[in-house]
Amino acid sequence: MTMGKKEQREKELLQKVNQLGEEVLNSERFLSAWDIPHHGSVSVAMHSMHVAKESCRIADWLRRHGVKISDEDAVRSSLLHDIGMTERRVFSSPSWKKAYTHPDRGTEIAEKEYHANEIQKDAIQRHMWPICVVPPSHVAGWVVLAADKISSMKELFS
Ligand SMILES: [Fe+2]
Ligand SMILES: [Fe+2]
Repeated sequence: MTMGKKEQREKELLQKVNQLGEEVLNSERFLSAWDIPHHGSVSVAMHSMHVAKESCRIADWLRRHGVKISDEDAVRSSLLHDIGMTERRVFSSPSWKKAYTHPDRGTEIAEKEYHANEIQKDAIQRHMWPICVVPPSHVAGWVVLAADKISSMKELFS
């Protein structure tokens, strides 16, 4: 049976995420996120994979409209945007508190353990906008922000 266009596209997106996100995906901390629940039955790691694929889809669309964006920044920021939730003191806190604390903690982890660049750190720190007051400074941050909202809606309502 031949693969449909949609399946082919999903496969391509997944390949891109696996390739550009290799370092993150194989890290012990990210592997631990497969066991941390996020939205219903969706784990933090699964959610981050969804966000990374969605970010690549949005980045492709933006490029077709003349916007410059790096796939590597989009993928790495997406995979790391909720990495702060892998800290016990963050994931065991009430959800309202978690919403405020996980971006800052995630940014520290991304810098220390994954050598995230300025664009990636900005995207991680500000992905909860408007809960955090300052919006992203780079297009990659806006892409992650949008992809996070879209993926969360799919996870919660489909
Ligand atoms: Fe988040
Ligand atoms: Fe998220």
